[in-house]
Amino acid sequence: MLITGKTRVCAIIGEPVEHSLSPLMQNAAFQALRIDCVYVPFRVPSSCLRDAVRGFRSQGVLGFNVTIPHKIKIIKYLAELHPLARNIGAVNTVLNTKTGLVGYNTDAMGVIEALRRKRVRLNDSTVTILGAGGAARAIVYALVETAHRIVVLNRTRRKARKLKRDLERRLGRQIEIGDLTRKSLAEALRATDLLINATSIGMNGEDSSLPISQADLQQHLTVLDIAYGRSETELLRKARRSGCRTIGGIEMLLHQGAAAFEIWTGMKAPLTTMRNALACAKPGGGSR
Ligand code: ATR
Repeated sequence: MLITGKTRVCAIIGEPVEHSLSPLMQNAAFQALRIDCVYVPFRVPSSCLRDAVRGFRSQGVLGFNVTIPHKIKIIKYLAELHPLARNIGAVNTVLNTKTGLVGYNTDAMGVIEALRRKRVRLNDSTVTILGAGGAARAIVYALVETAHRIVVLNRTRRKARKLKRDLERRLGRQIEIGDLTRKSLAEALRATDLLINATSIGMNGEDSSLPISQADLQQHLTVLDIAYGRSETELLRKARRSGCRTIGGIEMLLHQGAAAFEIWTGMKAPLTTMRNALACAKPGGGSR
C-alpha cells in the first residue's frame, strides 16, 4: 500500500507487543474498505506510557489499542471514558477526538461474542476466571449478569480484592475471590463449568505456567484461554487431552478488534476479512 502524508495511523501499545496479530487483522480491514490508514505496533514500557500517549495525541493518530500491562494505568492519561470503560475500570481502545483522547472497552463484548458464537451456555453456570488485570475485569463485567457464580483467582490478593470491591459496587452482584494456587484452583475447578485464563502468563517474558494439572481439568469443563500463540497454549493442550471443550483466544481477539475498528472508522467492520487474515496467520505468533 502507498503511505502518503494523508495516511492516518492507528496503533497498539503494550509490552510485549511484537507478536500481536492485531496489525495483521486491522490492516486487512483498512485495505478491504479502502481506508487510508495503517496500524502499527509500538512496544511501550510502563515508564514511557505517559509520553507515548502524549505523542499519539500530538501526532494526531486516529486511535490505538492498549494491551498488557497498560489497560488500567492508561486511564489517568485520557480526557474522557466511555461509561462501559469507566464501569469496568479498564481501557483497550482509544479514540483521538477533537476534544481529547476517549477510552473505550471492547474486551467485554469480545468475550461475550466469542462465547455466543461457540454456543457456550452461561445461565446457571459457575465461571472461574484466572487473573485480575484489565482483561479479567472486562470478562467479569461481561459475564456477571448471566452466570450464576463468578470466582476470580489471582496471584496478588490485593488486586483481586480491588476488582471485587469496584465491580461489586458497580454491579450489585457478588464476586468470589481467591489465590491462584494449585490447591485453590483444583478446588474451584470441581464446581466450575467455564474456566477462562485472563492472566498474561507466558506472554510477559516470564518463564512460568498456570498451577494446573491435566487431572484437574475434567471433561465437563469448557476452557477459554484469551492468550494465543504460535501453537495451542499449554492450558488448552491439557484441556483438550482431558476431553474438555476448548476455545482459543483468536475468537475474542477478532470480536474486540472488530468493535475497535468500528469506533475508529464509524464503519461496519469487515468481519470475514479480519477472520481470514487471522486464519492465514495461524499457527502464527501472537499475544493479545
Ligand atoms: P491485562 O490488562 O492484559 O489483563 P495486566 O493488567 O498486566 O494485563 O494483568 C495481568 C494478569 O496476569 C494479572 O492478574 C497478573 O497477576 P498479578 O495481579 O499477580 O500481577 C497475572 N499474571 C501475570 N504473570 C503471572 C504469573 N507468572 N503468575 C500468575 N499470574 C500472573
